[in-house]
Amino acid sequence: MDVICVDSLSKTFGDTKVIEGVSFFVEEEDSMAIIGPSGCGKTTLLYMLSGLMGPTKGKVTIRGKAVKGPRKDVAFILQDFGLLPWRTVLQNVCLGMKIRDVPKQEQASRAKRLLADLGLDQHRDCYPASLSEGLLPWGSTDLQMLL
Ligand SMILES: Nc1ncnc2c1ncn2[C@@H]1O[C@H](COP(=O)(O)OP(=O)(O)OP(=O)(O)O)[C@@H](O)[C@H]1O
Ligand SMILES: [Mg+2]
Repeated sequence: MDVICVDSLSKTFGDTKVIEGVSFFVEEEDSMAIIGPSGCGKTTLLYMLSGLMGPTKGKVTIRGKAVKGPRKDVAFILQDFGLLPWRTVLQNVCLGMKIRDVPKQEQASRAKRLLADLGLDQHRDCYPASLSEGLLPWGSTDLQMLL
Protein backbone atom coordinates (compact mmCIF):
# COMPACT_ATOMS: atom_id res chain seq x y z
CA MET A 1 0.00 0.00 0.00
CA ASP A 2 1.18 3.55 -0.66
CA VAL A 3 2.13 5.31 2.57
CA ILE A 4 1.49 8.80 1.21
CA CYS A 5 -0.87 9.50 -1.66
CA VAL A 6 -1.18 13.07 -2.92
CA ASP A 7 -3.98 13.56 -5.40
CA SER A 8 -4.38 16.71 -7.52
CA LEU A 9 -3.36 18.99 -4.68
CA SER A 10 -3.69 22.75 -5.10
CA LYS A 11 -3.22 25.69 -2.75
CA THR A 12 -3.91 29.35 -3.36
CA PHE A 13 -3.30 32.28 -1.04
CA GLY A 14 -5.67 35.02 -2.21
CA ASP A 15 -5.01 35.35 -5.95
CA THR A 16 -1.65 33.58 -5.76
CA LYS A 17 -1.54 29.96 -6.92
CA VAL A 18 1.29 28.35 -4.98
CA ILE A 19 0.61 24.70 -5.75
CA GLU A 20 -1.46 23.46 -8.63
CA GLY A 21 -2.46 19.90 -9.46
CA VAL A 22 0.37 18.11 -7.65
CA SER A 23 0.05 14.30 -7.48
CA PHE A 24 2.52 11.65 -6.30
CA PHE A 25 2.81 8.48 -4.25
CA VAL A 26 5.36 7.51 -1.62
CA GLU A 27 5.68 3.81 -0.87
CA GLU A 28 6.85 2.01 2.27
CA GLU A 29 10.64 2.37 2.83
CA ASP A 30 10.88 5.21 0.27
CA SER A 31 12.58 8.51 1.03
CA MET A 32 11.59 11.51 -1.01
CA ALA A 33 13.23 14.91 -1.45
CA ILE A 34 11.25 17.89 -2.68
CA ILE A 35 13.57 20.34 -4.39
CA GLY A 36 12.80 23.74 -5.84
CA PRO A 37 13.63 27.44 -5.66
CA SER A 38 12.72 29.55 -2.66
CA GLY A 39 9.02 30.35 -2.63
CA CYS A 40 7.95 27.54 -4.95
CA GLY A 41 5.76 25.96 -2.27
CA LYS A 42 7.82 23.19 -0.61
CA THR A 43 6.89 24.12 2.95
CA THR A 44 3.28 24.74 1.95
CA LEU A 45 3.16 21.23 0.50
CA LEU A 46 4.58 19.76 3.72
CA TYR A 47 2.10 21.71 5.85
CA MET A 48 -0.67 20.08 3.82
CA LEU A 49 0.90 16.61 4.11
CA SER A 50 1.10 16.99 7.88
CA GLY A 51 -2.46 18.30 8.20
CA LEU A 52 -1.35 21.67 9.57
CA MET A 53 -2.92 23.43 6.58
CA GLY A 54 -5.83 22.41 4.39
CA PRO A 55 -5.57 22.35 0.59
CA THR A 56 -7.68 24.55 -1.65
CA LYS A 57 -8.34 21.51 -3.83
CA GLY A 58 -7.28 17.89 -3.89
CA LYS A 59 -6.56 15.37 -1.20
CA VAL A 60 -3.75 13.82 0.85
CA THR A 61 -4.09 10.27 2.15
CA ILE A 62 -1.61 8.70 4.58
CA ARG A 63 -1.78 4.97 5.23
CA GLY A 64 -5.23 4.87 3.67
CA LYS A 65 -6.75 7.67 5.78
CA ALA A 66 -7.50 11.15 4.43
CA VAL A 67 -5.47 13.85 6.17
CA LYS A 68 -7.92 16.25 7.80
CA GLY A 69 -5.71 17.69 10.55
CA PRO A 70 -2.56 16.99 12.55
CA ARG A 71 -2.12 13.33 13.47
CA LYS A 72 0.13 11.28 15.71
CA ASP A 73 1.76 9.17 13.01
CA VAL A 74 3.20 12.17 11.18
CA ALA A 75 6.15 14.22 12.44
CA PHE A 76 7.25 17.45 10.82
CA ILE A 77 10.54 19.14 11.65
CA LEU A 78 10.99 22.64 10.30
CA GLN A 79 14.42 23.60 9.04
CA ASP A 80 14.80 26.45 11.48
CA PHE A 81 12.14 27.48 13.99
CA GLY A 82 11.15 24.62 16.17
CA LEU A 83 14.62 23.16 16.67
CA LEU A 84 15.88 23.05 20.23
CA PRO A 85 19.48 24.31 20.15
CA TRP A 86 20.43 22.46 23.36
CA ARG A 87 19.43 19.11 21.87
CA THR A 88 21.59 17.16 19.45
CA VAL A 89 20.40 16.21 15.97
CA LEU A 90 19.34 12.81 17.27
CA GLN A 91 17.57 14.31 20.27
CA ASN A 92 15.75 16.84 18.05
CA VAL A 93 14.60 14.04 15.75
CA CYS A 94 13.36 12.10 18.80
CA LEU A 95 11.41 15.03 20.24
CA GLY A 96 8.02 14.20 18.71
CA MET A 97 8.30 10.60 19.91
CA LYS A 98 9.40 11.74 23.39
CA ILE A 99 6.31 13.95 23.64
CA ARG A 100 4.19 10.96 22.62
CA ASP A 101 5.85 8.79 25.30
CA VAL A 102 7.34 6.33 22.82
CA PRO A 103 9.76 4.14 24.85
CA LYS A 104 13.29 5.59 24.88
CA GLN A 105 14.96 2.65 23.16
CA GLU A 106 12.40 2.67 20.38
CA GLN A 107 12.84 6.45 19.92
CA ALA A 108 16.57 6.00 19.46
CA SER A 109 16.34 3.03 17.12
CA ARG A 110 13.72 4.63 14.86
CA ALA A 111 15.53 7.96 14.71
CA LYS A 112 18.94 6.36 14.09
CA ARG A 113 17.54 4.23 11.29
CA LEU A 114 16.00 7.28 9.63
CA LEU A 115 19.18 9.37 9.94
CA ALA A 116 21.22 6.49 8.53
CA ASP A 117 18.80 6.12 5.61
CA LEU A 118 19.32 9.80 4.85
CA GLY A 119 23.12 9.56 5.10
CA LEU A 120 23.20 11.81 8.17
CA ASP A 121 24.34 9.23 10.67
CA GLN A 122 27.73 10.81 11.36
CA HIS A 123 26.11 14.09 12.43
CA ARG A 124 23.60 12.70 14.89
CA ASP A 125 25.49 13.81 18.03
CA CYS A 126 26.10 17.34 16.75
CA TYR A 127 24.13 20.39 17.90
CA PRO A 128 22.20 22.41 15.28
CA ALA A 129 24.46 25.47 15.65
CA SER A 130 27.53 23.45 14.68
CA LEU A 131 26.10 22.33 11.33
CA SER A 132 25.62 24.17 8.09
CA GLU A 133 22.05 24.42 6.86
CA GLY A 134 22.70 21.80 4.22
CA LEU A 135 23.86 19.38 6.89
CA LEU A 136 20.93 19.85 9.21
CA PRO A 137 18.85 16.68 9.24
CA TRP A 138 16.03 18.56 7.58
CA GLY A 139 18.52 19.75 4.94
CA SER A 140 17.82 22.76 2.81
CA THR A 141 14.15 22.01 2.92
CA ASP A 142 11.91 20.67 5.64
CA LEU A 143 11.80 17.01 6.38
CA GLN A 144 8.57 15.17 6.67
CA MET A 145 8.99 12.03 8.66
CA LEU A 146 6.78 9.11 9.37
CA LEU A 147 8.17 7.83 12.63
N1 LIG B 1 0.11 31.82 4.95
C1 LIG B 1 0.46 32.38 3.79
N2 LIG B 1 -0.24 33.43 3.29
C2 LIG B 1 0.09 33.98 2.11
N3 LIG B 1 1.09 33.55 1.32
C3 LIG B 1 1.82 32.53 1.77
C4 LIG B 1 1.54 31.89 3.02
N4 LIG B 1 2.42 30.86 3.18
C5 LIG B 1 3.22 30.88 2.10
N5 LIG B 1 2.85 31.87 1.25
C6 LIG B 1 3.46 32.16 -0.04
O1 LIG B 1 3.46 30.95 -0.78
C7 LIG B 1 4.66 30.83 -1.53
C8 LIG B 1 5.33 29.50 -1.18
O2 LIG B 1 5.86 29.59 0.14
P1 LIG B 1 6.63 28.40 0.80
O3 LIG B 1 7.01 28.85 2.16
O4 LIG B 1 5.81 27.16 0.69
O5 LIG B 1 7.90 28.26 -0.15
P2 LIG B 1 9.19 27.35 -0.02
O6 LIG B 1 9.33 26.61 -1.31
O7 LIG B 1 9.11 26.54 1.22
O8 LIG B 1 10.35 28.43 0.09
P3 LIG B 1 11.78 28.36 0.87
O9 LIG B 1 12.69 27.53 0.00
O10 LIG B 1 12.22 29.79 0.91
O11 LIG B 1 11.53 27.78 2.23
C9 LIG B 1 5.49 32.07 -1.23
O12 LIG B 1 5.24 33.00 -2.26
C10 LIG B 1 4.93 32.56 0.08
O13 LIG B 1 5.07 33.95 0.20
MG1 LIG C 1 10.31 26.46 2.97
